[in-house]
Amino acid sequence: MDQAAALPGAPFLARREGVLRLDGHALADLARRFGTPLFVYSRAAMCAAAASYRRALAGRPHLVCYAMKANSNLAVLQVLAEAGCGFDIVSAGELARVLAAGGAASRTVFSGVGKRRDEMALALQAGVRCFNVESIGELRVLDEVARAHGVVAPVSLRVNPDVDAGTHPYISTGLKSNKFGVAHAQALATYREAAALGGLRVAGIDCHIGSQITQIAPYLDALDRLLDLVEAVEAEGIALHHVDVGGGLGITYTDEAPPAADELVGRLLARMDARGHGHREVLLEPGRSLVGNAGVLLTEVLYLKPGEVTNFCIVDAAMNDLTRPALYDAYMGIEPCVRRRGEPLARWDVVGPVCESGDWLGRQRDLAVQAGDFLAVLSAGAYGMAMASNYNTRPRAAEVMVDGDAVHLIRQRERVADLFAGERLIGAP
Ligand code: LLP
Repeated sequence: MDQAAALPGAPFLARREGVLRLDGHALADLARRFGTPLFVYSRAAMCAAAASYRRALAGRPHLVCYAMKANSNLAVLQVLAEAGCGFDIVSAGELARVLAAGGAASRTVFSGVGKRRDEMALALQAGVRCFNVESIGELRVLDEVARAHGVVAPVSLRVNPDVDAGTHPYISTGLKSNKFGVAHAQALATYREAAALGGLRVAGIDCHIGSQITQIAPYLDALDRLLDLVEAVEAEGIALHHVDVGGGLGITYTDEAPPAADELVGRLLARMDARGHGHREVLLEPGRSLVGNAGVLLTEVLYLKPGEVTNFCIVDAAMNDLTRPALYDAYMGIEPCVRRRGEPLARWDVVGPVCESGDWLGRQRDLAVQAGDFLAVLSAGAYGMAMASNYNTRPRAAEVMVDGDAVHLIRQRERVADLFAGERLIGAP
């Protein structure tokens, strides 16, 4: 039976005659060919996600800045740059990746609550589009760094709109209690100071209210709060060119039903039009919704360990490869790469080899599995590899991109020797 409609990642991820395929490529074949753990991404799925944003923005001045913290593989950046995206970065390391992937600094905004002077200097030299500034302290330092380099830094204030996005506390960012942004009440005074500093040029305004947001209402609330400020700031003669309405659109991991990107953007634009701001350039910073459901993590079942209380299905991917379940208690779908007809299901906790009880990928999952099978953890294109670590001296996984008929190895598997290449024995010559 074709179950494509039921799978997050459909239509690119689909099961046909028991075989799970991404863009037509049988995942079990890829697991055998490249080894496991293995991240596999679909170029077509990423392009389709980017197209949904751009469709809604057609005819408007706009820039979709891919929040590359979600997945910063160079080939992923390349694909999204070719699809017309700019980038949202949060470190000099991310800037280096953008440039290495052929992306343009002039289409890159620099976010983040703790930018260092050396990072600011590098971003100024590269010519980034805008600095999203998060505090008055940062504003003053950026002014100094820009003047020391004889340039003017384009700035936008990241305003904390104090809106509850209704998401997990670790990934909500727009509440007064969060560390992010300039408080709404202080934003006007901060803009006045920015406009008076010689090393800065006020360019826009931005906000970010959280991640994995599945409702439109919090976005509209945040946009209204931003537009109120735009009006107040411009009434003082400080022009704001662009409005950057954060990131955060959720994806389907299980039964969430977030709006499509073009629906969300259509609603935001309609609100801007209704309030007389239709002429402004719109920036967006989506991460997860561009790449999350374009990827899966493949893993091999090592051992089945049925128990009195819990049955454990021990696989070769772990919390170091995919930390979302351990860190956020996140649900991610798990599917066998090949489903055998008529095999009975049993209930398993799918766990990795890391020496922590928190090392699980899925709990209480009904699966028909045997040692040697391959499983796919779904929706793993965002915040998967990007958050991977080497805990337990585990080399990070390889990454593959399927691209029509082609399959590209876009990151080779790390080697154990790489992991301690920078370490030194004490007293060694
Ligand atoms: N812009 C800024 C300033 C951000 O902080 C973020 C995400 C984004 C854009 C992109 O948001 P997205 O479209 O991906 O929701 N590791 C967590 C998610 C943390 C998101 C942090 N900021 C997870 O795995 O759920």
